[in-house]
Amino acid sequence: MAAYPEVRTAEEFRKQPEEYQAAVKKILVSHAINELYGAQVFDEPAIKFAPTPYAKWLTCRVAMEEYHHHVRFKGLADEVGVPAEHMDTRNKKPLSIFEFPLKSWEEFCVIKLLADLAEILQVEDLLHCSYLPLRNVARTTMPEEKFHAQFGHDFCTELIKTPEGKARVQDAIDRYFPYLPHFFGAANSRNNELYRKFSLKQRRNDEMRADYLNRVKDLLDGLGLNMPALPQAA
Ligand SMILES: [Fe+2]
Ligand SMILES: [Fe+2]
Repeated sequence: MAAYPEVRTAEEFRKQPEEYQAAVKKILVSHAINELYGAQVFDEPAIKFAPTPYAKWLTCRVAMEEYHHHVRFKGLADEVGVPAEHMDTRNKKPLSIFEFPLKSWEEFCVIKLLADLAEILQVEDLLHCSYLPLRNVARTTMPEEKFHAQFGHDFCTELIKTPEGKARVQDAIDRYFPYLPHFFGAANSRNNELYRKFSLKQRRNDEMRADYLNRVKDLLDGLGLNMPALPQAA
């Protein structure tokens, strides 16, 4: 597929075909809403589960950054005229990954380990996207998403030092992991086809999902944890 020319500013954006504008807006809305959902249902509530002042401080930092990601993506969407109510979690059904009811510190650490890795893959594609303001936001966001995934890795490493802790982490993985493969979207998604046509994303949903599953396998192998069997039709 030939690369779509770079679109450098919101002014240039307004001169693009309607289909291009709609595709960019969809990506902006999905990131703005997902960052906000994540912050509301996981990161902010996790502050009370964090077991030490140090863990609370780092969790506050994660929550602050996730809210900031929402603010950044929403800022881009505002600039191109997306109505604010399209990015309000009160008006939009959450993705299934946000329906997991967070009840423990172990679960939060597993969510950071696995869900933030999924987010890293999404942001990886945006690092090369044709809409430069979005590419720049992806560049600023990436090191923070890497910090979140590392946060999950570091605290899971700490937790699995005892057999009880390891059992709790594995149990959280077994319950949360099945939500994740769907995060990458349908195999024959029309949106994904448009995103690739306009050089907004590089990979097909299935390619991204396969890459993700390989990375999760390596990550869990490295920690001595098991990757649960894949849900059907993932
Ligand atoms: Fe984020
Ligand atoms: Fe994150």
